[in-house]
Amino acid sequence: MKVAVYSAHKFEMENLVTANSKKHQLKLIDTYLTPETVPLAKGCDCVALFANDDGSASVLESLKEVGVKFIALRSAGYNHVNIEKAKELEIKVANVPEYSPYAVAEHTVALMLAMNRKLIRAHSRVRELNFSLDGLTGFDMNGICVGIIGLGRIGGIVAKILHGFGCKLLGYDLDINESLVANYNLRYTTIDNICKEADIITLHVPLNDETRYIIDKEEIEKMKTGVMLVNTSRGGLVNTRQVIVGLKREQIGYLGLDVYEEEKGLFFEDHSEDILQDDVIARLLTFKNVLITSHQAFLTTTALRNISETTIYNIDCWERNENSKNELT
Ligand code: NAI
Repeated sequence: MKVAVYSAHKFEMENLVTANSKKHQLKLIDTYLTPETVPLAKGCDCVALFANDDGSASVLESLKEVGVKFIALRSAGYNHVNIEKAKELEIKVANVPEYSPYAVAEHTVALMLAMNRKLIRAHSRVRELNFSLDGLTGFDMNGICVGIIGLGRIGGIVAKILHGFGCKLLGYDLDINESLVANYNLRYTTIDNICKEADIITLHVPLNDETRYIIDKEEIEKMKTGVMLVNTSRGGLVNTRQVIVGLKREQIGYLGLDVYEEEKGLFFEDHSEDILQDDVIARLLTFKNVLITSHQAFLTTTALRNISETTIYNIDCWERNENSKNELT
C-alpha cells in the first residue's frame, strides 16, 4: 500500500516507521494537506493525516481525483475532516480514538500547577539569580472547586487526578458517568453553575457545532473573578477575543491553552525567524498569567507509540478489507 503521510513531524516519524516495519510504502511529506499539496498524494491509495491537515469537502474531492481511497487519521479528533463528504465520496476514514488519555489529562494538570505556582516566572528569575519570592504566591489545590466540561476519557482522568489533590469537582456532559460520582464525588451540573462556582474550569469536549464557543462572552461574564481557564481540547471551544477581554478586566486570572482557534499554520512549526502575523495570539502572549503550549498535550512516548501502531493497524485492516473498529465512515 502506498501511503502519503502529511504533516510528517520529526517527533513521530521514528515510531511510525517502526510500526510500519516496511509493510507499506510511506511517502513522508513535511507539509500540511491543503488544496495546493493534494497532488503530492498522487499514486497513493491512502493518506495519513494529522490534527491540522485540511480534510474539507473540496480537498476530499481533489484527493478522490488523485486516487485516494482511505484516510488514516493520526489523531482522535476528526473535526478537521468532512466525514459526510467522505461517505458520499466512498472514502473510508479511520481515527485513533484512544492513544493515551492520560497524556492529555496529565498535561492539563501540569498547566494548572505551572500557572498556579508561577513555575515559568520562578524558573526565569532563578536563572537571572533573582531569588525573590515576591509575586509568586499560589493557592492550595486542596479544597478548591474545579469544573470539568466534558467527562469522557480525558475529562474522567482529570477528575481522578484532581480528586487526588482534594479538589471539589463539578462536571458537565451530555451523559452521566455514575462511576465518577461514586469514586470522585463529582457533582454533575450545568455550564452556568460551573461558571458561577468553579475556581478552575477545564474543557474536554470535542469540537462540533454544539460545542463551538461553548465558552463565550456570556459564560466568561458569569465566571468568578480570578478564575483559571484551561483548554487542552480544541481552540474553537473558546472565543479567544472574549477571553482577552476577560483577561484585561482581570476577571480571568489565569489562562492555560494547549490549543488555539487559529493554530493551523502556527503550532507544530518553528516561526522564530518570522514576523508574527496573528494579532490575537500576539496579545495573549503579552499577559503574564497566560501559559500556552503548542498542542503538545498528547506528546508522550506512550501516546506516540500507540498513535503509530493504531494508524498502521487501521491501514492493514483496510488493505485486507477488514473492519478496523476505528472506522468513521
Ligand atoms: P471522549 O469522546 O472520550 O469524551 C468527550 C466527552 O464530551 C464525552 O463524554 C461526550 O459525552 C462529551 N460531549 C460531547 N459533546 C458534548 C456537548 N455538546 N456537551 C457536553 N458534553 C459533550 O473524548 P476524549 O478522548 O476525552 O477527548 C476529548 C477531546 O480532547 C477530543 O475531542 C480532542 O478534541 C481533545 N484532544 C486533545 C489533544 C491534545 O493534544 N491537546 C489530544 C487528544 C484529544
